[in-house]
Amino acid sequence: MRAFLLLLLLIVGCSHKVNIVSPAPHFDRSKYDAKASKAMVATQGEATSKATLSILEKGGNIIDAFVTASFTISVERPHSTGLGGGGFLLYYHHAENKVYAFDFREVAPILSTSDMFLTKEGEVQSLLSQEGALAVATPGLVAGLFDIHQRFGRLPWSEIIAPAIDLARNGFPLYDHLHTALKDRKHLLAADPEARKTFLMSDGSVPRMGTVIRQENLAMTLEKIANKGRDGFYKGKVAEAIIKTVRSKRGILTLKDLRDYKMKERTPVFSNYKGLKVFSMPPPSSGGIHVIQILKMLEPHQLKKMGPQSIEAVHLTANSMQRAFVDRATYLGDPDFQSVPVKELLDEKYLSALAKEIKTEKAIRAQDIKPISLPYESSDTTHFSIADGEGNMVASTQTINGWFGSGVIAQGTGILLNNEMDDFAQKVGAQNLFGAVGGGRNLVQAKKRPLSSMSPTIITKNDKPFLALGSPSGTRIITCVAQTILNTVEFGMPLFESVAATRIHQQWLPDILKIEEPFLSEKVEKKLKVMGHNISHEKLGCSIQAIKRENGLWYGVSDPRGEGLAIGL
Ligand code: GLY
Repeated sequence: MRAFLLLLLLIVGCSHKVNIVSPAPHFDRSKYDAKASKAMVATQGEATSKATLSILEKGGNIIDAFVTASFTISVERPHSTGLGGGGFLLYYHHAENKVYAFDFREVAPILSTSDMFLTKEGEVQSLLSQEGALAVATPGLVAGLFDIHQRFGRLPWSEIIAPAIDLARNGFPLYDHLHTALKDRKHLLAADPEARKTFLMSDGSVPRMGTVIRQENLAMTLEKIANKGRDGFYKGKVAEAIIKTVRSKRGILTLKDLRDYKMKERTPVFSNYKGLKVFSMPPPSSGGIHVIQILKMLEPHQLKKMGPQSIEAVHLTANSMQRAFVDRATYLGDPDFQSVPVKELLDEKYLSALAKEIKTEKAIRAQDIKPISLPYESSDTTHFSIADGEGNMVASTQTINGWFGSGVIAQGTGILLNNEMDDFAQKVGAQNLFGAVGGGRNLVQAKKRPLSSMSPTIITKNDKPFLALGSPSGTRIITCVAQTILNTVEFGMPLFESVAATRIHQQWLPDILKIEEPFLSEKVEKKLKVMGHNISHEKLGCSIQAIKRENGLWYGVSDPRGEGLAIGL
C-alpha cells in the first residue's frame, strides 16, 4: 500500500489530482510513451518515426536523422508541412555543448507590397493571404535541410531522402487528422487540378479512412532533389514549374526569389530557469521569447506549493500568458527589418517586474493592459524531437501554415505551396488606438520573414542534455510548450503526464481563457469564473513531441492527442 501511495505521489509530482487526456481507444499508450533507450525519436507520424530511427540504426548522425524526419513528415503530413514551406531547427551539439538555431522560414517575394492584401479602401481581404497563389511566400525548407546537412551530416544526402521517396511512391493509409483536414479544405483542393487528383476521389469526394494516399509526382521531385541537392528545387524544371503555376494564378513569386533564398543561422534566445538552461527559437519567431517570459514570470511564485491545476496556479499561469502576448503584439517582427528588443524582453529585472504585475486578485481585463490588435495565425504545422546515442538533440518545427497551405500544387511536382504570407499583419488593426508599435513591425515587406510562434526548445541541466520539445498550433504553441516545461520542471511530473495534462491558453486578445478537454475540476473552473476569467472550452490543437534524458537514457513522448509515435533504439 505504501509503495502504491509513493508511486501515486511520484506520478502527479504532489498530492494534487491532475486531469490528463488518454490516447484514443484504438491506440495503445506504448505508442506515445517510449522508455529508457539509447536514442529517441518523437514525431507526429508513425512512418516518419520509424524511418528516422532506421537512419540512426544504420549509423546516421542526428542531422541525418533530422533530414530524414523532415522529408518523410512532409510526405506523411502533407496538410501540415512540406517542401513548399519552411521551419526552424534547434540543434544541441553535445561535443561543443552548444545550441545552434537555424531559420529556414519562408520569405515574402520581392514583388510584395505592404498593401497587397488590402482593398483600395484599405480593408483587409483575408482570403487573398490564405488561399491561392498570392498567399505563397518563397519556400525555405529544402535550402535549410541541404545547407545544414552539408555542414553537419554524415550519411550521403540521397540515402537519407530515400525513405521519403518510398513513402510518397508506395503511400500510407489515410488517418484521422489528414481525413479531417481534407474535409475542411475540400473546396480549396478541388480548385487545383493536381491537388484534386492527388487527394480527392475522381468524383471530387474525400477518400475514406484507410484509403492509400500515394504522391507519385512528389516522389519524382524528391528524386530530383536527391540527385541535384538544393538546385533540384530552386533551379531547373521544378523551379520553373513552381513559378509557372504561381504566375498562372496571379501570384507574384519569381525565379529570382527562389534562386536568392538563403537560410539563416541565428543566435538562440536563452535564459537560466530553476537551475537549468533554456534555449529557444529567436525572432522571426516570437515563440522562444514568450516561452521564456512565461516561465520566468512564474518562477518566483513557486507554483509547486499551490499544486498543478490548482486555482492559484492556473490563474497565475493565465495571467503570465496574457502578459507575454501583449509584448508579442507590441515588439515582435523580422529582426532583419525592425529591431526587436530581445535583450530587454528577457531582462531579469523586467521579467521580475512583470512577475509582480501578474499577481492579482482578479483576472486582468485585456483593455486594462494595452489595446493593440494581433495578427491572425493559423493552427497547423508539425514538430519533431530526436536524440542520438551521443547526447545530441534536435527540436524542429516546420510548416506550410494552414491546412494544405495555399492549396496550390506546382503542376507536375506534387509540391503543395505554403500560405505563409498570412502570418504577416495585413495592416495594423483598427483597435490599435495608440499608434503603430503593434502589428506594425510585422507588416508585409519584400524579402521579410513573417512572424512565427514556432517554439522548438532545448533545455540542458549541468551542461548536459535534458529536454527537447515543441508543438504545432499557431499561437498556442507558445503556451503548450511553456506548460509542458512547467509540468516537468516545476511540478516534477513524469514526461507522459506532463504532455497529457489538460492545457489552458490565454493570448490577451481575445480576452478568453481557453481550457481543453478533459477540462479542469468543476471547483477550479467555478472559482476562476468568479475571479473574472472568461472561460471557454476549446480544442487547442497542440501536439507536443518531447524527449527527456534521465540517468543517461532517453524517454520520449508523442502527444496522446495525435497519431504520432515515440520510439527508442
Ligand atoms: N505558421 C505558423 C507559425 O509560424 O507560427
